[in-house]
Amino acid sequence: MIDCYNRKIDYLRISITDRCNLRCRYCMPEEGITERSHSEILSYEQIVRIVHIASQCGIRKVRLTGGEPLVRKNICKLISSITSIPKINEVSLTTNGVVLSAMADDLKAAGLNRINVSLDTLNPARFNLITRRNNFYEVIKGIEKAISIGLTPVKINTVLMKDINDDEIFDFIDLTTKMPVHIRFIEFMPFGNLPFQQQIHFISSNEIKQKISSRLKMSEIKKTQGSGPAETFSVNNAKGTIGFISAISNHFCSDCNRIRLTANGKLRSCLFSNGETNLKLALENNANDKVLINLFRRAVLNKPDRHRIGEILPATTSLDMYQIGG
Ligand code: 5AD
Ligand code: SF4
Repeated sequence: MIDCYNRKIDYLRISITDRCNLRCRYCMPEEGITERSHSEILSYEQIVRIVHIASQCGIRKVRLTGGEPLVRKNICKLISSITSIPKINEVSLTTNGVVLSAMADDLKAAGLNRINVSLDTLNPARFNLITRRNNFYEVIKGIEKAISIGLTPVKINTVLMKDINDDEIFDFIDLTTKMPVHIRFIEFMPFGNLPFQQQIHFISSNEIKQKISSRLKMSEIKKTQGSGPAETFSVNNAKGTIGFISAISNHFCSDCNRIRLTANGKLRSCLFSNGETNLKLALENNANDKVLINLFRRAVLNKPDRHRIGEILPATTSLDMYQIGG
C-alpha cells in the first residue's frame, strides 16, 4: 500500500509484550514496569487476525519485537501461524538474546527467517552496568547458535553512547572479522522520561564514521531494495559488515516502509508520533474484516511525512521503547 508521501508500506513490526528480562538503563527503570495484565495485551489469535488484515493491505514482512519477545510463552506457535499466512514472505525477530540459544532450534522450525540481537557492549562487566543483569555470555551463546543453525543473516543492534560504550567501536568491527555478523550502530534516540540522558550520551553516526576512517578503510556496500535504513560498509574484507542507522542526524523517513503494532493493540504509523489506532478495541467490538481493513488503511494514510526530533521541543515521545517496540 502506498501512503500519502508515495512510500510503499509493506513492513509491520509487532511488539508482543512490554515485559523484559533485562533492564537497560536507557529503556527501563530499575524496578521494571507496571506489568499489563493478559487482558490488556493482544492475544495470539488477535495478532494473527491483525496480520491477516495487514497482509490484505500490502504488508509482506513482519518483525516480532518487545520488550523482549522471547519471554512471552509459546512464541513458536505464533510464528508458525504468521508464517502460514500466504502473502507474508518474511518473519523476523528482534531479541536481547538472553534465552535465544535454548529456543533457536524451535524458532527456526516454526519458520522464523532471521534475527536481530541487541548488544551494546562486548565487555561482560559493562554489559552488567548497561543492562543491570549479568547475562552477557548467554547472549554470545545465542548469537553463535543462531549463526550455526542458519537464522541468518544475524544482525547485531548496538546503540552507541558517548562515554558509555563509544570506546568499543573497533572491538565491534573486529568481531565482523571473526564472525559473520552484521553490526548496526544505532544513534541513541530520545524516548520517554528516564533519567538516563540522551542529550549527554548522544553521538552521531558521522562522528563514529570519522573515528573509523582515521584508522581503517571502509568500503560502502550498495543498498539493495528492502535493505532497510542502515548504510552498510565492510572493513578488511571481513565476514560480516558494519552499518549505521542514523535515525536522528539524517532521518530516513522518506524511505520508511514500516508501521508498528504495540503490545496492547494500537497501530502506530511512526515511532515518534503519538497518533494511534486502537485495533484491540475494534476487535473486541467484533469489527468485521472490512472495518479492520479500513482502520489499517487509514493509519497508513495518516503516517506523518517525517519526525521532527531536534526541531521542536519537547523532542520526544511520551512512551519508552519497550512500550512501542524497537
Ligand atoms: N535509542 C536507540 N535505540 C534504542 N533501543 C531501545 N531504546 C533505544 C533508544 N533510546 C534499541 C534497543 C534494541 C532495539 C529494539 O531498540 O537497544 O536494539
Ligand atoms: Fe529489554 Fe530491549 Fe529495553 Fe534492554 S532495550 S530493557 S533488552 S526491551
